[in-house]
Amino acid sequence: MSNLIIAPSVLSADFSALGAAAAEIDASGAEWVHLDVMDGAFVPVITFGPKAVADLRPHSRGVFDVHLMTERPENLVQAFAEAGADYITFHIESCVHAHRIVQSIRSFGKKPGLSIVPSTPLSALEELLPDVDLVLVMTVNPGFGGQAMIPSALEKAKRLVELRDERGFDFLVSIDGGVNAATIGAVREAKVDVIVAGSAFFGAKDKKAFVKELRGE
Ligand code: DX5
Ligand code: ZN
Repeated sequence: MSNLIIAPSVLSADFSALGAAAAEIDASGAEWVHLDVMDGAFVPVITFGPKAVADLRPHSRGVFDVHLMTERPENLVQAFAEAGADYITFHIESCVHAHRIVQSIRSFGKKPGLSIVPSTPLSALEELLPDVDLVLVMTVNPGFGGQAMIPSALEKAKRLVELRDERGFDFLVSIDGGVNAATIGAVREAKVDVIVAGSAFFGAKDKKAFVKELRGE
């Protein structure tokens, strides 16, 4: 059995029925629920805040993987921690004092993650790699579901997995954006730990079968 963690994103679900979407994710066999928080400033779209996450919490047994695509992520840590997030991931491009935010996430007993957009090099993360539990490599420009994967960003994720293994760090590597039946082969070759899928998951008629297909089972 594959160790790949599948993290369907509710971004592509019907927002009037997010509880049902979270339950659908559980029923599919996926382990994580990916929650895309967008503020209309760091990215053009606005999605939802901590109340939606708190309201969703009883609808799923999955790990809540909160992906903050916001400015000033430091102001949101406590609210999402109290809402029931397990991982809180923010963008290195959105802040100056990333180390302090990582510490703050830990102080609430949550797992800190860092994310980079396709144009940000791995070197931007270097100093923080020993301190985080997750690195989320965006394989599209954040803001929308249903975009085509950027191959150079997937290559970057592959290099990060190699670098992590060489240096003996233990964070998970996640990729986010453009995962579907056509790209999953290349994604598996990158040997990442977590795969986020939004539009392809919610577009799949048989979600259990789609999760298995992502895992290569
Ligand atoms: C994009 C979000 C993604 C999004 C992925 O900015 O961070 O999590 O849901 O959507 P797909 O899988 O459709 O590319
Ligand atoms: Zn995301």
